Amino acid sequence: MMGATTDFTGGPLEHLAGDGMFQHFRPLYNGHLIANVEMTQERGNRLIRAGLADSIAFGRPFIANPDLPERFLVGATLNEVSWPTVYASGPDGYIDYPALNVKANARLGPPENEHSAFDASFNKRDYSAAEKNNAQKA
Ligand SMILES: Cc1cc2nc3c(=O)[nH]c(=O)nc-3n(C[C@H](O)[C@H](O)[C@H](O)COP(=O)(O)O)c2cc1C
Repeated sequence: MMGATTDFTGGPLEHLAGDGMFQHFRPLYNGHLIANVEMTQERGNRLIRAGLADSIAFGRPFIANPDLPERFLVGATLNEVSWPTVYASGPDGYIDYPALNVKANARLGPPENEHSAFDASFNKRDYSAAEKNNAQKA
């Protein structure tokens, strides 16, 4: 289900704008509801926590951030989509988005902690330190 569509302002469907789409249809559908379009980590978490969606799909953020889950995990900034390379042929826009620089982006710490996320190698997919840190903050 789309989390953003045409501008409903001033019309009879205005209540469906934003999260209103999920609030309206969730009680009417018992199946697995996947929310997409203009999702963010914060919005996705909010929809899941509220029971308004079961899964969250990311399109453009994944195009620009092949390491999107890692970025969400450490609270890193996201690359913006480079529109000139969207729908283009050749490798540009498919393999050249910069991967996460953990040391530059991670907001977890402290860095002097040898087990912190600053030291985690994403190639090893070792998220234990980041998960522990997130759990402590929650
Ligand atoms: C480059 C690009 C190509 C897309 N191609 C299709 C497509 O062929 N069919 C389709 O149903 N949706 C297509 N979409 C829409 C996505 O499937 C999806 O609905 C939307 O991008 C998800 O929202 P998000 O990008 O805000 O996460 C495309 C989106 C983008 C950015």
